[in-house]
Amino acid sequence: MAVDLRSDFLTRPTPAMIAAMTEAAREPGHFGLREDPRQQALERRLAQLLGQEDALLFPTCTMANEVGLMLLARPGEVVATHAATHIVTSEAGAPAALGGLSVEVVPGDPVMPAPEAWAALAGRGTDSLLPRVAAFSLENTHNRGAGAPLTAAYMAEIVGIAKRHGIGVHLDGARLFNAAVALSVQPSDLARGCDTIAVSLNKGLGAVIGGALAGSCDLIARALTLRQRLGGGIRPTGMVAAAGLLAIESWPRLVEDHRRARRLAERLAGMAELRVDPAQVVTNIVVATIAAGGPSPAALCDRLARNGVLALPFGPGRIRLVVYRDIDDAAIDQAAAAIADSLKPER
Ligand SMILES: Cc1ncc(COP(=O)(O)O)c(C=O)c1O
Repeated sequence: MAVDLRSDFLTRPTPAMIAAMTEAAREPGHFGLREDPRQQALERRLAQLLGQEDALLFPTCTMANEVGLMLLARPGEVVATHAATHIVTSEAGAPAALGGLSVEVVPGDPVMPAPEAWAALAGRGTDSLLPRVAAFSLENTHNRGAGAPLTAAYMAEIVGIAKRHGIGVHLDGARLFNAAVALSVQPSDLARGCDTIAVSLNKGLGAVIGGALAGSCDLIARALTLRQRLGGGIRPTGMVAAAGLLAIESWPRLVEDHRRARRLAERLAGMAELRVDPAQVVTNIVVATIAAGGPSPAALCDRLARNGVLALPFGPGRIRLVVYRDIDDAAIDQAAAAIADSLKPER
C-alpha cells in the first residue's frame, strides 16, 4: 500500500470513532442548528479547551476562517497576516470575494515577523487615505512555514499590539493542537486574547470531517448566521460530532506524529540531494528543499508515487511530507527508502 504523506486530513477514523458514528447514525437526527446533544457537548468542550465562551461546529476550517474574518472586519477593511498563510494561498480569494476584505502581508520572517512590522500596519489607522486594518490573522502552526509553531509569548505580543489599536485577532488554528503539543502548553494558552479561533477536527485529530470557530457568545451567535449564509449549517450533526468528541480528546497523542516526522527529517537530512534541518521539524510537517540540479518538485513527486510514496509539490524546489496517526515507524522507513531511491539518477 502507498504511504500517503500528502496531508494529515487523510487520517482514518479509529475503530472507536467508527463505532460512535454508527451509534449516532442509528438514533433519530435533531432538527435545530445547535440542538444535537453530541454537537452541544463537542462545542462546549472545544470552547473549554480554547479558553473561550462558546464554539460552533463548521464543515471545514476554511469556512470557519472566513466567518472569523468577516466577524472582525467589514467590507473595504484590511486583514493583516504573515506570509503564505492559508487564507492567502488556499481559500480561493474568499476574504475579498465573500467579505470584501483586502489582505496585506506583514513583511519579515514568514512565520513570526517582528512585532514592529505588525505595529507599523496597526499604527497607520489615522491615515484616512488608506483602508483601516481591522484584523490580524495568525496561523498556528504555520503550514507553509514547515509546521512551525508560534510561541505563546509571540502570540501574546501580537495580540497586545492589536488590542492597543482596537484591532481584532483571528487565529487559524487548523493545527493548533500540534502547536500546543510541540510547545508543551495548553491550547488555551495559544488562543488567549484572540477574538475568533478556527480549528480543524479532521487533520491530525483524525475526525472524518469538521472544523469549529470559537470566541465570545456574542461573536458565535453572529457566526451562526454567517455560517448559514454560506451554506454551512450541516444537519444532522450527530455522526460528525460523535467522531469529533473522540478526536479532540486525542490531542496529546500528536506527540507521536511529531517524533515520527523528526525521524523522517533525520533520514532525509542524510541525503545529499535534499536540504532538511531536523532541528526545525517540531510538529508533523516536513518540508524538504531539493538541492540545485535535482528534479523539479513535480518530477520528484511523480517518481515517488511510482515508488509507493505520495508527497506534495510545495512551491519552488520544495516538497511537503505530513505525518499522521496512520503513519507508523515502518511507514516512515518505507518512505525514507523510497525517497532515497527516487533521488537516484534515472537509468
Ligand atoms: C493552516 C490551514 N488552515 C486551514 C485549512 C483548511 O482546512 P479545511 O480543509 O478543513 O477547510 C488548512 C487545510 O489544510 C490549513 O492547512
